[in-house]
Amino acid sequence: MANKKIVIAIDGFSSCGKSTVAKSLARRLGYAYIDSGAMYRAVTLFALRNNLIHNGKPDKEGIIRALGRMQISFSFDPETEKNITFLNGENIENEIRRLEVSENVSPVSAIADVRRAMVDFQREMGRSKGIVMDGRDIGTVVFPDAELKIFMTADPEIRAQRRYLELVAKGESISMEEIRKNIGQRDFIDQNRKESPLRKADDALVLDNSYLTPDQQLQWAIDRVKEITENHES
Ligand code: DC
Repeated sequence: MANKKIVIAIDGFSSCGKSTVAKSLARRLGYAYIDSGAMYRAVTLFALRNNLIHNGKPDKEGIIRALGRMQISFSFDPETEKNITFLNGENIENEIRRLEVSENVSPVSAIADVRRAMVDFQREMGRSKGIVMDGRDIGTVVFPDAELKIFMTADPEIRAQRRYLELVAKGESISMEEIRKNIGQRDFIDQNRKESPLRKADDALVLDNSYLTPDQQLQWAIDRVKEITENHES
């Protein structure tokens, strides 16, 4: 594969397998993988712990004031081949995947000043290219000039089943009904918020992985990277 490093932006709905494609693509290309959703989840966890969310309603001013006290960072664990998210030096990787965070993250990520701070951080991370970042606004706002933009989607029922199996494997006791509700609410807020709503960038390629295996979707993405890096070279 060509050496020219590019930026790969992967956006799409919740629980449709963005991180599976993004991680395997990054591994194959020797790129860094950044999960931008983890940053919004970290802010949400901080807000929950510090009483800055009341009955699902974030205290916007309080959260914005607290942004300077949140130091978010990532490290790659070569043993488990997993990215770990840290908040002020604490490993929060497991906690940010819990349902309580999932249930509160969409309203927190709709706060304009929170988005501004996260986008600055994300752009900083992509400065030297060679990065795969997944999220909701990566191809539209964070890296509008990304060489490859992928917009992922999958049947909502299949997404709910995947999420269910993932959470049950982690020991959470939860019903399919709660998961369907959470996915539906997040889709709605993500697409309808004023600030950087989830939408497909005009130049993004659509990947519907409802009936694709992880290997098939990785191959699809590798083929797209090849087309682009080969074009770059000519
Ligand atoms: O990808 P995820 O489900 O971990 O993301 C968690 C939430 O963060 C999701 O509900 C929407 C928000 N998000 C966002 O607004 N912008 C991003 N670039 C990534 C995530």
